[in-house]
Amino acid sequence: MSKVIIIGATSGIGRELARRYAAGGHLVGATGRRQELLATLAAEYPGRVVTACYDATGRDAISESVSLAERLGGMDLLIYNAGWGEFSAGLDWDIDKQTVDINVNGFLMAVHFGWDHFIRQGHGHLVTISSVAGNRGNRYTPAYSAAKSFQSVYFEGLYIKARRLNIPLYVTDIQPGFVNTQLAKGPRFWVASVDQAADQIVRAIARRRRKAYITRRWWIVAKLFRWIPGWVYYRL
Ligand SMILES: NC(=O)c1ccc[n+]([C@@H]2O[C@H](COP(=O)([O-])OP(=O)(O)OC[C@H]3O[C@@H](n4cnc5c(N)ncnc54)[C@H](OP(=O)(O)O)[C@@H]3O)[C@@H](O)[C@H]2O)c1
Repeated sequence: MSKVIIIGATSGIGRELARRYAAGGHLVGATGRRQELLATLAAEYPGRVVTACYDATGRDAISESVSLAERLGGMDLLIYNAGWGEFSAGLDWDIDKQTVDINVNGFLMAVHFGWDHFIRQGHGHLVTISSVAGNRGNRYTPAYSAAKSFQSVYFEGLYIKARRLNIPLYVTDIQPGFVNTQLAKGPRFWVASVDQAADQIVRAIARRRRKAYITRRWWIVAKLFRWIPGWVYYRL
């Protein structure tokens, strides 16, 4: 039985991941700001889910995570799933700030907490749920794509760092395309169900993949984003 902390497990992908790990016999630490949703999750898996209600961007985020790991009796896997984004047609300050707070600042606090913990114990697995959107800038959600790019580039750096430590410390960047949750808005294609996404994420983590697209065919879009020349991309 391993101990898994999921930051942002009240709804969507994070909640389904929590359910998968709890059903698989693991001990899950689930966080989020919506206490009632944490309570219903814990009630589904008595004795398997320990909850902590806090804002992942708040000043106490690291100490809350440390205390959750203590209550769990340790941590083998940390998944940073919390995220948010919104269309910013007129370049809205509040949207951009909130986007960076959760997808960059909250992310960094969780990653530092996880990295320190895993270095101390000599093993562990750090996962972030970034996005295919991080592969290129876009005019609809500029802060969101930039913030998700930050996560992916940061994780590539961590991966290289971890390899040089010669200890079993793994780093996985999960890049979903569209998944059918409250977060996904606007025109969409190749939309995965939360079930399908959770299946593929759990598998990629078990295989200790460095990077995985969810669903798998989204690698095509990620590559296209990278290869398409500016004179074409800027007209889309
Ligand atoms: N759905 C997609 O199409 C898609 C595509 C690419 C990437 N992603 C990424 O997948 C991840 C999960 O999103 P989702 O689609 O499952 O959406 P979701 O249902 O809205 O889930 C977002 C989760 O993040 C938590 N969260 C947000 N802000 C938080 C904060 N300040 N403090 C603590 N927790 C916070 C939410 O919990 P509370 O509200 O209870 O705090 C919730 O549990 C996100 O990182 C998202 O960017 C999603």
